[in-house]
Amino acid sequence: MTNKNGEAQCEIGVIGLGVMGRNMLLNMADHGFKVAGYDKDKQKVDSLRKESKEQVFGATDVEEFLSLLKKPRAIMLLVPAGNPVDLVIKELLPHLQSGDLIIDAGNSHFTDTDIRAQNLQKKGIRFLGVGISGGEDGARHGPSIMPGGPKEAYEQVRPIFEAIAAKVDGKPCVAYLGPGSAGHYVKMVHNGIEYGIMQLIAETYDLMKRGLGLNNDQLLHAYLSWNNSNLGNYLIEITTHIFATMDEKTGKHLIDEILSVAKQNGTGMWTSLSAMELQVPLTVIDLAVAMRDLSVLVKEREQANSLYKRPIQQVSIDHTIFLKQLQGALLIGNIIICAQAMALLAVASEKYAYHLNLESVARIWQGGCIIRAKLLDDYSAAFRLNAKLSNLLLDPKLSEKVMAHQEDLRQVVCQASITGVPMPGFMAALGYLDAYRSSWSPANLIQAQRDYFGSHTYERVDSKGTFHTKWEKDLPT
Ligand code: 6PG
Repeated sequence: MTNKNGEAQCEIGVIGLGVMGRNMLLNMADHGFKVAGYDKDKQKVDSLRKESKEQVFGATDVEEFLSLLKKPRAIMLLVPAGNPVDLVIKELLPHLQSGDLIIDAGNSHFTDTDIRAQNLQKKGIRFLGVGISGGEDGARHGPSIMPGGPKEAYEQVRPIFEAIAAKVDGKPCVAYLGPGSAGHYVKMVHNGIEYGIMQLIAETYDLMKRGLGLNNDQLLHAYLSWNNSNLGNYLIEITTHIFATMDEKTGKHLIDEILSVAKQNGTGMWTSLSAMELQVPLTVIDLAVAMRDLSVLVKEREQANSLYKRPIQQVSIDHTIFLKQLQGALLIGNIIICAQAMALLAVASEKYAYHLNLESVARIWQGGCIIRAKLLDDYSAAFRLNAKLSNLLLDPKLSEKVMAHQEDLRQVVCQASITGVPMPGFMAALGYLDAYRSSWSPANLIQAQRDYFGSHTYERVDSKGTFHTKWEKDLPT
């Protein structure tokens, strides 16, 4: 554990040997790094030791764990977000020295990260807030890593992060993103995008199942062909596996045995809350959060079902043609989700002085993470062309793609409303597109109404300044 001079040798230690922590350690060890893991649960430590990798050490005692690490020590926390992070920091603090580095690699809320960074800085401890995406498999074989915090602290762990990250065209899916909570903010928005894409895929499933009457094998084939197109992404890919999975218990497709209730840990909601606060429209992700909330109201949905009876009607367009339109609509839907999310990142970057490079963000999402997709190449290219692009929909190439498929989106929304299959995500995407591309908006009426009932004044098209009118009139009967 120590060299012949009695010095500890591990380059990094991981606290929390759940699946993510353990897999990250093994990934680091695979790349030749000496690493140590700490968990109070002896079984987890024993099982890590059993990996019998020469460069992996384990401890159930915090002091023993810290004695294994090179100084200044780099300690990565992979514990659930919230209070557990503060508890671990509290446990570590009496044993740390000035210059040691704590890396919170969980899904922490960005404001918590800022508070922790400030508190630790006062004690001379460096702190990085790092988003990690890719789930268990990503942690083991190559995640996308979104680090934020002091640049010099990042430099200490950069070789490890670059080695363990997923690679796309030989480049690691990690880049220093910015100071403070930049990494956790970007990870939060990543998760918001994840919610949005999952919602749109779920809506296509519903429309194909109930509006087209496709069975699970036909659904599998539709998703397979979409995944092989320019729409291909990890979430569609895993959907194909889901439709190919049979239930061991019943022998039927497992998907049909799963309750139609979607839970959440809250990162999608955080993204929506932040967007509201920064006044950035994020309509599809908002809808995705709302639909998860609605899904859990099982009893109410049953009651409403008996009150509002209307059988689902079948899609009236030729199925082969309609499936192509649905594919086109999903493509635009994905672009709109990312356009809104990247616009949020641009505004948050200004507001919180993250100095984000959005080309880099899109690049490190190309591999390892849950939202990896072929379309991310287009987003990267758009920001390469114009680093200050305020909305991806203003990029000439992406606008061509959207124009090529906008009629598909309209058809899908029309058919959804006729059939009665709920597609609020697609409807929100189309509504946003139409509002965003309209140079005129009915907000003049809203201004007039505000002035009417609250004397909030209004602005005019023909002269500068603010105006107020006494609106109440004797109206013709
Ligand atoms: C990832 C995932 C990961 C996690 C989500 C799930 O990037 O690897 O996003 O962070 O699976 O937190 O979020 P919900 O539980 O809210 O769906």
